[in-house]
Amino acid sequence: MKIFIDSANFQEIKEAVSWGIIDGATTNPSLMAKETGQSVEKLSRQICEIVPGPVSLEGIAMTSEELVKEGRILTKIASNVIFKIPMSIEGMKAVQILNKEGIKTNVTLIFTSNQAMLAAKSGASYVSPFIGRLDDIGEKGIELIKEIKTVFTNYQYKTEILAASIRSREHVKQAALAGADIATMPFKVLKELFQHDLTDKGISIFLNDWKKLKV
Ligand code: E4P
Repeated sequence: MKIFIDSANFQEIKEAVSWGIIDGATTNPSLMAKETGQSVEKLSRQICEIVPGPVSLEGIAMTSEELVKEGRILTKIASNVIFKIPMSIEGMKAVQILNKEGIKTNVTLIFTSNQAMLAAKSGASYVSPFIGRLDDIGEKGIELIKEIKTVFTNYQYKTEILAASIRSREHVKQAALAGADIATMPFKVLKELFQHDLTDKGISIFLNDWKKLKV
């Protein structure tokens, strides 16, 4: 499974990239809004330069015409930009037009397999089902990933499943088991993936035993 960082914070993206396991990045307007005091365009450019793979930048326009214009502009920032569009009728019209122009899209805010199917039929390169937000309303978010996997396999859609709104290591494991192509996660979750209490304990035991050997 490919691993993306879900962040617009340059320092944490840079650090995560230095670990050698990052395949791409996703941003959204809320994440961008946290990075106050800098130009969104400049920040987007800097992120695209250091990430060794696709970087999703999200549009905020509400009509297909405006979304198409926004997509053309944002994807000129760097060759690895993926234009992220929220699911809607206007959004899917824009995905179809941009697809014909060779502009890759990531359809976000996916909460049903029907929405994912419409995005795939429209020519989206990625769909972003939100696991955590479904859990928040008492549903099992991971079931959505499994459903989309089945639908995409049934009809051989090439669209990649980008599991999003990931809040824990358990979500990452479940996304991998369900066959998601990608999981995007915050820096904190990424860091936790490396960790286990028994690993820390084991290292400590090995080091102590080694010291005894030297005495
Ligand atoms: C995905 O691309 C979104 O940026 C993100 O995963 C949303 O996560 P949240 O539900 O924790 O805000």
